[in-house]
Amino acid sequence: MAVSPLFIVFTALLGLTCAQQQQALLDYLERRLTVIEDRISLWHDQTNRYAGELREFKQQIVSLIENAEKDRETLRTDMENTNTRVDRLEREMDYLETQNPAPPCVEVDDKLVEQQVTKVKEKNKRKYEKLTDCRDMISSIKAMKILKRLGGPKGTWTKDVVAENQKVYVFNGTGQTTLYEFSTGRELAASPGLSRAKHINLPFPWGGTGHTVYDGHAYYVKEGNEFQVIKFDLQNETVVDSAVFPAEDQVPVYGLSPETYIDLSADEEGLWAIYATKENEKNICLAKMDPKTLDIEQMWDTPCPRENAEAAFIICGTVYVVYNTKLPSRSRVQCVYDVSDMVTNEDAPLVYFPKRYGSHSSLKYNPREKQIYAWDDGYQILYKLNMKKKLEV
Ligand SMILES: *[C@@H]1O[C@H](CO)[C@@H](O)[C@H](O)[C@H]1NC(C)=O
Ligand SMILES: *[C@@H]1O[C@H](CO)[C@@H](O)[C@H](O)[C@H]1NC(C)=O
Repeated sequence: MAVSPLFIVFTALLGLTCAQQQQALLDYLERRLTVIEDRISLWHDQTNRYAGELREFKQQIVSLIENAEKDRETLRTDMENTNTRVDRLEREMDYLETQNPAPPCVEVDDKLVEQQVTKVKEKNKRKYEKLTDCRDMISSIKAMKILKRLGGPKGTWTKDVVAENQKVYVFNGTGQTTLYEFSTGRELAASPGLSRAKHINLPFPWGGTGHTVYDGHAYYVKEGNEFQVIKFDLQNETVVDSAVFPAEDQVPVYGLSPETYIDLSADEEGLWAIYATKENEKNICLAKMDPKTLDIEQMWDTPCPRENAEAAFIICGTVYVVYNTKLPSRSRVQCVYDVSDMVTNEDAPLVYFPKRYGSHSSLKYNPREKQIYAWDDGYQILYKLNMKKKLEV
């Protein structure tokens, strides 16, 4: 059995006198107090040491964090430098490409080229009678404005090319029936989603992204293999005319946009159709249409290849085909065809579009505003153009 020291002290005290007892007790208590004091001072020392260690630890952590911050800063600067270098490289590449434009036609043997050229010349021989005196051609892109992100990756938006109103039309997707009309572009920009739009229900779904709005009517190609062009009155919301597009064995007109077979496009001269057929599979064809009757007035084979084309637009009877790559990079106008032979590929500037999100699913030129309504991966973008005059031949 364990015996407490106090018990021993008391047992020892029993044999002593009262004064002796008191003295012994005092001595004992003093010894105990000394021991306790020693312990307290030991604790005190330990606590101090711990506090010191904690302080040191904290300092270490702080300096570690500071170092990490510094490293991050260095990394960020490095990345910025790299970005700048990549940008510069891109600009240099653009410049080089401007100096040595890629030839639009490659790997075709001479005889074939001769045959094709003769054929094209035959077909394109008839002189085009211009309806207007417009002589504008694009010289560069002056500004780009991202108006909104609304809808899916592919679609079309445009203003009426002729009518003097501010209405903006949105065709979301590549096979739908609801057309959205906003009273102005500003209204579109301010609208939460499509909430401020008037919904216009079309009787047939459209196919692809090749629609246009011209003089109060929507012109679009009905979804399916029939390639029926529909003319739809936007005022009383009725189909006023329709016609099967008279080309055989059609193929998607732009290599990078498989949904679009016919791209209806309008400019100062009126209504055009950009399309492609199996017969001249490598290149894009052009047709002038009568907006009143949907009759085809004249057709051309252009020298512009379908391969790597993403979209096109027309200004004053000149078609500008825009090319990209499968993994979207910078879009550029790399082939032009002028029905009145005033602009050749050589005197057309190689126009690069500013860097964007994906690739253009549609480009719609507005002659009154001299700007292009573009749909890029769901973004509605405006490109303001610098124009110059076509040279007289
Ligand atoms: C737009 O079309 C896409 C399909 O391309 C669809 O997923 C999306 O819901 C549509 N957006 C609106 C607002 O209708
Ligand atoms: C709609 O307006 C057009 C003229 O733009 C007219 O030819 C057509 O008959 C009208 N349709 C209806 C249902 O009112």
